[in-house]
Amino acid sequence: MEFDFNVNPLLADIITKLDNRLMPSRNGQGRNGALQLRQQLYEVLDKMGEASARAQGLRGAITSGRKMELSDHKLYIMKDPEGSSGRGAVIGFLKTGKKKLFVYDYNGHHHEMEPLCVLDFYVHESRQRMGCGKRLFEYMLKCENVVPCHLAIDRPSIKFSSFLRKHYNLKKQIPQTNNFVVYDGFLDQPDAGRRRNGNRAYTSYPFNGSER
Ligand code: ACO
Repeated sequence: MEFDFNVNPLLADIITKLDNRLMPSRNGQGRNGALQLRQQLYEVLDKMGEASARAQGLRGAITSGRKMELSDHKLYIMKDPEGSSGRGAVIGFLKTGKKKLFVYDYNGHHHEMEPLCVLDFYVHESRQRMGCGKRLFEYMLKCENVVPCHLAIDRPSIKFSSFLRKHYNLKKQIPQTNNFVVYDGFLDQPDAGRRRNGNRAYTSYPFNGSER
């Protein structure tokens, strides 16, 4: 995605990790310069968030500058520094965060967990199926020190499900009653030890799985 400003001073690396401080990688000159860079970073996140929502057929964006600022989510954003005649183009992003979830095992027991979740993932249409998504995903796995089967995925699209199957052989899902999809192996992580209820699960048990 192209912008009418240079994105290179905002994003330090090919893939940059952002948190709720939303700091542009370079300081602008003076107070106004710093403010301008911050506004530009907000615009990048707002536009990319809207594009992701459109691509997923969602009514509203689940990623924006403001939403990032108010959360403890992490956002990995990828750029092409040479794009847009040297002003840099934004290729895509991947957003993660921890959520408290009740996760069912194959026996219907539920486990109270706070796993790392993939909350939003988007690669610009002009760059899809070129390996950019894989590069972003791999970078996130390394930074978060997590293996793919230990992630909970918030409503994966058909393209994302295909991506997980192709690159990480994630096929077999453990049925859940919330919006999150988890795959075989998910409950092998240490956090899964905290089983909440030894009995078979009640399908009406409350869960925290509807907000992204
Ligand atoms: N149709 C089906 N599968 C696709 C498609 C597509 N149009 N595009 C990518 N994939 C899957 C396939 O498995 C593909 O392998 P193949 O080309 O051999 O079939 C594989 O992804 C390609 O891998 P990458 O090139 O590394 O992935 P890409 O850069 O395309 O990024 C992503 C994948 C992020 C899912 C991208 O396709 C995208 O932005 N899609 C639209 C938005 C979306 O659906 N995001 C996920 C929402 S769910 C969530 O965020 C929790």
